[in-house]
Amino acid sequence: MAKELVALRRIDHVRFFVGNARQSAYFYRNAFGFDVIAYAGLETRQKHEAGYVLRQGNITFVLTSPLSDAHPERQRLVQHGDGVMDIALEVDDVRGVFAETVRRGATPVQEPVALEDDLGVFELASIRTYGDTRHSFINRDRYKGVFAPGFEPLDPERYSPTTFHSVGLKAIDHIVGNVEEGKMDHWVGFYKNVLDFNQLVHFDDKDISTEYSALMSKVVQNGTGRIKFPLNEPAKARRRSQIEEFLQFYGGPGVQHIAMATDDIVDTVRAMRHNDVSFLRVPQTYYDALPERVGAIRENMEELAELGILVDRDDEGYMLQIFTKPVADRPTLFFEVIQRRGSRSFGKGNFKALFEAIEREQATRGTL
Ligand code: FE2
Repeated sequence: MAKELVALRRIDHVRFFVGNARQSAYFYRNAFGFDVIAYAGLETRQKHEAGYVLRQGNITFVLTSPLSDAHPERQRLVQHGDGVMDIALEVDDVRGVFAETVRRGATPVQEPVALEDDLGVFELASIRTYGDTRHSFINRDRYKGVFAPGFEPLDPERYSPTTFHSVGLKAIDHIVGNVEEGKMDHWVGFYKNVLDFNQLVHFDDKDISTEYSALMSKVVQNGTGRIKFPLNEPAKARRRSQIEEFLQFYGGPGVQHIAMATDDIVDTVRAMRHNDVSFLRVPQTYYDALPERVGAIRENMEELAELGILVDRDDEGYMLQIFTKPVADRPTLFFEVIQRRGSRSFGKGNFKALFEAIEREQATRGTL
């Protein structure tokens, strides 16, 4: 019976805490193709923070910036730089889920509140997950507004209706967290015991290591399989791994990447490249070996090579994926674009080529 209490519907939104939400909104709009749909700030009588709500397909991002040093979360910017603050989950019963997860050991961040305005009631509570990251529990069944109380539909003078290439991102496929060395089992246990997730697959460091980088990765998903959170932990390696680099520059555990699904990765990546998004590149040898590794696929391999799109196959089908370079100054958060053709896995066959590409980037940063 307790299991029912933490039933999660979906990822409602991802909230980023950033230094300049207005300019970040411009980036996610013009490079990634999001519409900017709502705003909160001084003009909407928010004294302490500015917020922009962005939408593409079923994906909602919220960008939040403090307006003064009176903001309770201001230290995040110094410690982490821009990054993900909250993976908010939509639930039926905010109070019930909050009470049950706290009873099971979750650290509370925000006690349940019902925010009200002319457009209805919006319910919210939050718990802590790895690092400073939180999961808010949201219910907007009785709320008719554009996002939440305090936000107003965006003045089209500030961000005009879409005028750029359509990008075609549809949904969040998975969100990956990097946790401290030795803490993987703790956080897998947290998702299993507190949020009723199941563990999906398991790699170890022998599967995925290069000369320098090594990590362990485990994947947890909720009961319906709609919410998938891979977790990475650094493993022993001769040189500094990309996970250690993240932990150092982010100042602790946090969200490493967000994978967004498309129905046509070739069109999506072409549009994003046109919009000047930078992606990781693998060498041509990767594509020389591809036909033998993945067999027949519907896409044109030359087009994939031209755009830098990767392919992996398992016994259920195949998937196509590509990774951006980090999107801010620190080598921390990046994005993945993914198209699934039957496969439900995460591209293990691409790890080696990818890690070598990441190491080339690390070497240019002097952080290898
Ligand atoms: Fe991924």
